[in-house]
Amino acid sequence: MTRLRWTRPAPRLLLDSAILVLLLVAFAYWWQGNLAHEIVGTIFFVLLIRHLVNNGRWWSAARRGPYDLRRAMSLILTLLLAASMAVLLLTSLAISQSLFAFLPQPGLFTMREMHWFSAYWIMAIVGLHLGLNWGRVTSLLRSIGWMNGRTRVWAVLGGLCALALAVQGYFSASVLGLWSRLSFQYSLAMWDFNEAVLPFFGHWLAVIGLFAVLGHHVLRLAALAQPAR
Ligand code: HEM
Repeated sequence: MTRLRWTRPAPRLLLDSAILVLLLVAFAYWWQGNLAHEIVGTIFFVLLIRHLVNNGRWWSAARRGPYDLRRAMSLILTLLLAASMAVLLLTSLAISQSLFAFLPQPGLFTMREMHWFSAYWIMAIVGLHLGLNWGRVTSLLRSIGWMNGRTRVWAVLGGLCALALAVQGYFSASVLGLWSRLSFQYSLAMWDFNEAVLPFFGHWLAVIGLFAVLGHHVLRLAALAQPAR
């Protein structure tokens, strides 16, 4: 039997997609209940470790220069993502009511608030992270035979879809109360899972899409602003 090699393009893409799906599912706290939420969140963190191992070379290369604007932006964003994930992980352990309830629970109220707010920020940063690494994603897709033979028509269609996604993402963020939560304020927006389930995930996907489009284009602008060497 051949061993599954996680560093190969198809398993890598599968792993990254699974991480994204688990992140979205973890957000539907009031749909799943506490135990399912904690299980989904814990699997998310386990897969995230594999994602970090797959990209281990990035961390060792990060110590080596030179740094242009594009690379500096990518480093800052990755560090922000790592910091917010660390906050989410630590607060998860601190507020757990099921899997890790045996652990001490210092400052429960503050920890809960940090858990929610870091989770909302992570959605925005994950989107930016995806946009910044979009070139890497498309090269992985090409290596498994997708997106080959990209013509100008496809590039224009892709651009229009990205624009539509960004507009939808802006409105979806308002529906989900994301804008106020990103400024650390409470929001009255509460999703009613008895009414509908799928649109909840659709809205979050659009939000990630909005930030991915932003990240991708800001990076392109940074590359243009770079003096030619
Ligand atoms: C992908 C990782 C995770 C994300 C994105 C996430 C996100 C969230 C969000 C957004 C809420 C607030 C739900 C609401 O009131 O609308 C929440 C609540 C909660 N989460 Fe997580 N979470 C994650 C992982 C975990 C893990 C691993 C644990 C514990 C092992 C955990 C424990 C809890 C608990 C106990 C609550 C309820 C807090 C309360 O009493 O209000 N979470 N989470």
